[in-house]
Amino acid sequence: MSIAATVNTGAAAAKPVLNVAMVGHAFMGRAHGNAFRQVNHFFDLPFHVVPAVIVGRDPERAAAAAHKLGFAESTTDLKATLARQDIHLVDVATPNDSHCAIALQALAAGKHVLCEKPLAMTVDEAKSMVAAAKKKKVRVGLWHNYRRAPATRLAAQMIARGDLGEVRQVRAVYLQDWLADASVPASWRTSRKTCGSGAHGDLNAHLIDLTRALTGLEFDSVIGVQQTFTKERPDGAGGTAKVDVDDALCFLAKFKNGAVGTYEATRVAPGRKNFNCIEISGSKGSLRWNLERMNELEVFLFADPRDGQGFRTIMCMDSVHPYAANWWPDGHIVGYEHTFVHHVADFVAALASGEPFAPDFQDGLAVQGVLAAVLESVKAGAWVKVRR
Ligand SMILES: NC(=O)c1ccc[n+]([C@@H]2O[C@H](COP(=O)([O-])OP(=O)(O)OC[C@H]3O[C@@H](n4cnc5c(N)ncnc54)[C@H](O)[C@@H]3O)[C@@H](O)[C@H]2O)c1
Repeated sequence: MSIAATVNTGAAAAKPVLNVAMVGHAFMGRAHGNAFRQVNHFFDLPFHVVPAVIVGRDPERAAAAAHKLGFAESTTDLKATLARQDIHLVDVATPNDSHCAIALQALAAGKHVLCEKPLAMTVDEAKSMVAAAKKKKVRVGLWHNYRRAPATRLAAQMIARGDLGEVRQVRAVYLQDWLADASVPASWRTSRKTCGSGAHGDLNAHLIDLTRALTGLEFDSVIGVQQTFTKERPDGAGGTAKVDVDDALCFLAKFKNGAVGTYEATRVAPGRKNFNCIEISGSKGSLRWNLERMNELEVFLFADPRDGQGFRTIMCMDSVHPYAANWWPDGHIVGYEHTFVHHVADFVAALASGEPFAPDFQDGLAVQGVLAAVLESVKAGAWVKVRR
């Protein structure tokens, strides 16, 4: 796809523009929209990213969102948007059951695609997305944004250079409490038809991706247990709707290198808001990251001076740390929304350089394979091999 138009960004030389059409404009639409705007201001990229069009289902709501999020236009016509030569990147920020159809249409139109997680509803859908992306000379990415906090990036670097030795154990939890209250209404997130699974596809998907990103480990086999504590919820129209997805899902994992892992995703853990925490233990040390203290990395290495046996905490907002120098002077911290900005920055840089970008749809398929194997193991009450 040629990206011909240019924009004069001020003092700097004119850059080619990368026009973005974003489908969906609620929670993730706000996070992505912010990232598409902010990335130009903090990263020196080969393209000027332009939040061009919001595609919604209701014209008034889409127009209001475009105005608020800084997009030039809005529409309800996805087909017409995809037919436009001046749209280069399509961002899929809609519920899970629409990812595959929207991404396939965008790929068929020759657009680059960024898609929300989980990539798809099923392994077969995910495979069709991988195949479609391979057919076209376009780039694809998946919004597993937690890979791109300065602290998780540093963790990945430490593990890759061997600081922890051989990775032996992963313990990861993603805990929320917003469904602990039985009066919270049903939504697309509580119906298997629209989301595939509950806390599992929503939260374990992130933990699975984070494990792969930080350690490079590949899942071999899994066994899980799940529970739905509230089986019906108000439907918002005076009646009730069935809840047929998990409120909580825990699983054990064996990895190909012999390491083992424990995983827990829940939306019913009172007091836990967005407690996304991963601890990795190796033969020479351990590290731990928790989103609720996202700029800190806790590290214990046997090689460190033995003036005590505790973990030390690295504040990962020094200019030597990943992404930190793009923002503020040392120690001036960043937040949740910055992980999305980093995601766009890396994607756009990869687009220009031709370097690989991860996670792509192949990574999304790998995550989908683990998610599916866990659900199969819950049904079977037995260990299930993760298929590739
Ligand atoms: N990366 C993350 O950390 C993260 C966090 C939350 C959600 N998500 C993922 O992002 C996706 C969206 O979640 P959300 O929280 O933004 O949901 P949401 O309910 O807040 O927003 C969904 C948006 O999609 C629109 N929409 C629904 N169906 C559509 C269709 N067929 N065509 C066009 N627009 C449609 C809705 O009108 C709304 O604007 C989900 O796949 C979810 O799993 C990712």
